[in-house]
Amino acid sequence: MTAPQPPGSLDPLAVLKGLAALRKLTGTYPVGHPMIAQKLHEIGDQVDTYLRDGNPLCIDVIRGDVFLDGVASSSEQQANQQLIGQLTSLGIDSIHIHQGVELDEYLAVAQFLWQYTGSGDAVAAQLASRNVRHISLGRLVPLDTRWRAQQWPDAPTGPLDPAYAESILLAQQTFENTAAGKPLDVVTVRDLVQLLIHKVARSNAALGQILAVKQYENLTYCHSVNVSVLSLLLGKHVGLDEATLAALVEAALLHDVGKTQIPLEIVKKAGALDKSERKMIEAHTTLGAEILVQTEGLHPLTPTVALEHHRGVKGTGYPDLGNAIPHPMSQIVSVADIYEAITGARSYQDPTPPERACLILARLAGDKLNTALVKTFVSAITFFPLGSVVRTNRNELGLVVETNRGEPLHPVLTLVDEQTHQPLGRVNTAARDSAGAYERHISQTLPAPEGLDIRHFLPEAA
Ligand SMILES: [Fe+2]
Repeated sequence: MTAPQPPGSLDPLAVLKGLAALRKLTGTYPVGHPMIAQKLHEIGDQVDTYLRDGNPLCIDVIRGDVFLDGVASSSEQQANQQLIGQLTSLGIDSIHIHQGVELDEYLAVAQFLWQYTGSGDAVAAQLASRNVRHISLGRLVPLDTRWRAQQWPDAPTGPLDPAYAESILLAQQTFENTAAGKPLDVVTVRDLVQLLIHKVARSNAALGQILAVKQYENLTYCHSVNVSVLSLLLGKHVGLDEATLAALVEAALLHDVGKTQIPLEIVKKAGALDKSERKMIEAHTTLGAEILVQTEGLHPLTPTVALEHHRGVKGTGYPDLGNAIPHPMSQIVSVADIYEAITGARSYQDPTPPERACLILARLAGDKLNTALVKTFVSAITFFPLGSVVRTNRNELGLVVETNRGEPLHPVLTLVDEQTHQPLGRVNTAARDSAGAYERHISQTLPAPEGLDIRHFLPEAA
């Protein structure tokens, strides 16, 4: 993890813009032209200031949104969709720049991009042959092994809370039937809503598994179950009554139902989406609303949420509905949807740890997400209740024995021997290293292993 930068210290879009402009200039003018020299200095100055602390600069475009070192850029991105589209249509969705970079390297990268056709040697080799040693470009060709898409299982593996497992199975059947062209099964949807409200949301094991990072690529049915439970948690904390909560869970469960109408290879695509694929993905909102409007017996707001869940509170996002502000129910589902998506694995990204996901939500608050809802969500979630069995990113097995006030994601653990279940000592996961990064993250919540009596580990009062 890199040390946090003061906000606004670098606008990643400005760097992307600079590189795009330089690429065009190198295609238009001879190398020594003053316009090229000026652009090179501009880029160099911007990046050098940022690189002073020794960490590399990582700009990633994930489905059209720009991230700087893993954090969503706060710049107004709507106006820059064209620029981002230009770069991603070339296949560039990741640029990493390391300390020591020289101006000639930017020039070589720009020239390379101008001539690049998508064939030939791997990008890394082509850049190396041009003496580029401090800049790497991601996912230009699928053969570029440094960026090979990681394969994740399609659903949670290992033992699950039984009600949670049942809800995933029911959702899978419902979504697969809809994908096969059958009408949406409203009776199963109602059963699922009840199961989620009365069983899954009351199971600590299920909640832990939904809130922690997810080491699987959760396809629409899994994602939908998780978003429903997270929306329910948020809805409860903002004081919705029971009937409204049931409507919220139904809407959250079906918010992405339009994805059943889109080819799976596009939904799961590892690399950048081209323009037509992007359009297709974005259409899941309108397709979903159409299916839901035609289905009798659903709550009237269910199609609205499907239509609006990718729209921001300032009227940005898709589909284009003018300045219309999304319904509060859609705003709740948007918060849960984004949290769930980034804490899950994707073929094109590792899962984001919960605390980083909360930081991303905070950056999106105000522009895209409702600030009050983000605050409520982040402060309300009890990620790891006492007695939760967890695995850390260092592959240690531990038991939550104490929570840290103000650090809901970093409790105190007693580490446990995998075989004998004997305690190995306490660690505080809120501890940070000298660079300010957490020494440990919780990467998984597990059901208690057989033979492990958690009562031996918890204080008497608990
Ligand atoms: Fe969606």
